[in-house]
Amino acid sequence: MKILGISLGTKNGNNDTMCRVALEAAKEKGAEIEFIHLMDWNIEYCSGCVACSRGLVMGKGMICTRKDDFNALYEKMIEADGVLVVDPIFESGGTGLFHSITDRMGPGHDTGMLLMLDGKLKEQGKEGLNPRLFRQKAISFVGIGGSDWALRTETDHAMLAMSPGWKVVNNEYFSWCKDVIMQDDKIERMKEIGCNLVEAAQFIIDNNVMVPGSENIDLWKGAEGGCPHCHGNNFYIFPGTNHAVCELCGLEGHLELIDGAMKLVNDESIGPEGQIWHCHDLISGKAAHGKDIFENEGRLMNLYKDPEFQARKAHYTAVCEPTPPPSKA
Ligand SMILES: Cc1cc2nc3c(=O)[nH]c(=O)nc-3n(C[C@H](O)[C@H](O)[C@H](O)COP(=O)(O)O)c2cc1C
Repeated sequence: MKILGISLGTKNGNNDTMCRVALEAAKEKGAEIEFIHLMDWNIEYCSGCVACSRGLVMGKGMICTRKDDFNALYEKMIEADGVLVVDPIFESGGTGLFHSITDRMGPGHDTGMLLMLDGKLKEQGKEGLNPRLFRQKAISFVGIGGSDWALRTETDHAMLAMSPGWKVVNNEYFSWCKDVIMQDDKIERMKEIGCNLVEAAQFIIDNNVMVPGSENIDLWKGAEGGCPHCHGNNFYIFPGTNHAVCELCGLEGHLELIDGAMKLVNDESIGPEGQIWHCHDLISGKAAHGKDIFENEGRLMNLYKDPEFQARKAHYTAVCEPTPPPSKA
């Protein structure tokens, strides 16, 4: 079994250290370990060209126009049985680098979209994608902050697991942690997180769990959250109502105080958004989302040939030119 630890902090800083604490515990439980200090890697931000989603839904292949280390990082994650991401908290959430890897994981590595490509390739009489891309994976996240601004961290982090549909085991943040190496409770928790990851990864290996078909498997070892589906604790509340959406998995319902704890109550009567099958991490929800993307991309491609669309585009493009970047002047 292989556990991959990825730290997004400064070299040998608190995030690297805490990642190594968990990796040491995983190694003591018998896992092979690997550590990546992500700032050493060349990870570009997503340009938004949508070559990935077009390539997948049209059956052309896994395409990314960015030529950097992201694909190698994805391969490392695919090769591992369990992944631990330790990320500094920036502005109450994940770092820019973390958001970049979440975006890059986005449509191009979404299991629902990969299944679409797999189906299209087979329709064309070609070999489908390598089944290892569809293997389930245990993943945990830890955010480390220097203060108590932290409340978007869990949601930002678990979003990375939504696209591939991987199972989150622990998802936590540690506040007031500039001296974390001296905080024994945090060190102990990090060791538990490492051990939990090994146990969850072992379950996946023993049961040969694949993403499709693993909808009802729960490897979560954290505290029960406000969302009954993903354990998320961040909700968008529609103004003036108790109607809310889980910001992580997209489950819609209403917030209600149950036994002293605020919970999202799943309102199936709302429509698909109120139903578990529609959640972002499930193949059924991904299939619905993939179909929407396919239809919208198709509509846009047809619009490029439409004279009214072309006239509007030409009009607004002529309004102003972008200021050239000073670094390239
Ligand atoms: C741009 C920036 C924003 C930050 N924002 C927060 C924050 O919102 N909340 C917080 O607890 N710490 C914040 N910090 C502190 C970092 O989380 C802390 O420096 C980091 O975890 C140190 O990790 P390292 O030693 O691994 O580099 C911020 C630091 C920087 C540089």
